[in-house]
Order: sequence, then structure tokens, then C-alpha cells
Amino acid sequence: MNAAAPLLLFDSGVGGLSVLAEVRKSIPQAPIVYVADNGGYPYGTKSEAEIAARVPALLGRLAERFQPRLIVIACNTASTIALAVVRAALDLPIVGTVPAIKPAALASKTRVIGVLGTQATVRQPYVDRLAVEFAGDCIVLRHGSARLVEIAEAKLRGIAPDLDEVRAELDALLVQAEGERMDQCVLACTHFPLLSDEMHAVAPPGLQFVDSGAGIARRVRFLTQGQPWPETPLPGRAILTHESADMVAIAPSLSQFGLYQISLL
Ligand code: DGL
Repeated sequence: MNAAAPLLLFDSGVGGLSVLAEVRKSIPQAPIVYVADNGGYPYGTKSEAEIAARVPALLGRLAERFQPRLIVIACNTASTIALAVVRAALDLPIVGTVPAIKPAALASKTRVIGVLGTQATVRQPYVDRLAVEFAGDCIVLRHGSARLVEIAEAKLRGIAPDLDEVRAELDALLVQAEGERMDQCVLACTHFPLLSDEMHAVAPPGLQFVDSGAGIARRVRFLTQGQPWPETPLPGRAILTHESADMVAIAPSLSQFGLYQISLL
């Protein structure tokens, strides 16, 4: 194993940075290639067929180009639709991001949990299976929000979130039958932990949020145990799939996550 071989994290946009933050805490010396498929963004409003056609092909290209030691699909939408196909096609470890329904169900006292994801994620059979397997005795409420994804993208470009808009998306779970009893809310889109402060600010007392970031970091650490890392850390790289005018606006946020070079695929 080449010590410089990177971990490649992949999302439609900035959402995967919430996963990257956890991975960097766990393996600070890991070389990082972070890929935002801004040319395909947003994923959450696309069809299963569109995601299934785009993501495996793009990851194949990225694997060839960057020779990563491991890929993290830091996107619930892409993972719940395409994880199995990507794993079958590529000969390297692929870590997916799927809704943290299991930890939410373990922590819930009221047995009512919410799943806040993209529209595409919350309708996936993968989520049905997680709910049956790990939360069989819970009421599992779901809401798909495209607006929260946009708000998170804007926040990382310096535009402050409107708390009323964030509250409205959370309310879409709370107003459902038994919603007022919900005590765990799964942030089932990697963009949403980037709005953690805002979510906490508008949440009713006692509601807790759960996401998959720390679990993914543990998994990556386990899968790379014993592998060499560079002695002096390499600067992280951000790769975009599409030329965009707001590359300048996003640069300060990317550097906060250790990504100092931005380039086009
Ligand atoms: N961050 C992504 C997820 O976890 C998708 C956001 C989008 O492109 O709609 O689902």
C-alpha cells in the first residue's frame, strides 16, 4: 500500500464534508480527495434510474484517476440507490452512508423516530429494510427535503440560513400522526449535519439528532488499520465535476475542512 494513496469521499455537493470532518478527526494524517459532483447536483430530486446511471460510472472514472485506497460514498441518496452496484463494479473497499435508523431506535424512549433525508432517500426500499430490521417496534416518520440541501449549500457559501425555513422542514415531521412524540431525528442526508446549530435552535426540547458520520469514520479506520500514511500531512484536494462560478465563494469553507486545492475533474 502506497502511503500517499488517498481516501476518496464523494457527494453531490458539500454534504460529504460533514462525513469528512469525522474522518479527519479519526485519521488526521489521511490524504483526502473530496469529490463534489456539482454537475449532477442535486441528487435528491432525481430518479433512481438517473442516480444508478450516473454514480457507478463516475466512481469508476474517479477510482482510475485518483487510485484511492478506499472510497466513501458520503451521500445517502447515492448509497441507498447505488451502493451494491458500485461495490460489484470496483475492486476496492467502498463505505456507504445510510440513514442511522439503528442508533436512533436504540436511543429512542418514545419509540417514535423521524427520518429527514432527500425525497429520493426517504422513498428507498433500503430505508424500509432498515426500519423493519432495526426499528420494528417504532413508528418511523419520514420527510424528504430539497430545501434543506439548498440551505446547507448556501450556508457554506456564506449565506446565513433562515431559521423559519429550517423550522418548517422539521415541522413536516412533527405534524405527522404521533410526530409530537418523536424523540430521535435521523439526519439522513449528509448536508443536514452542516445545519446542526440551526436544527438544534428550532427543535422542541428533548428532540435529539443522529447521523452516520462518526460510524463511518470508525468503519474507515477499521478498514485501513495497519496501513501506512504519509509522515507529513498532504493538503486535501477538492474536485468538482463541473465548472462553476461560485468556486471562489466555496473556497473558504473547503479550506476549513482541510481542502486547500480546488480543481475540475
Ligand atoms: N448529500 C446528499 C445525501 O446525503 C444528497 C443531496 C442532494 O444532492 O440532493 O443524500
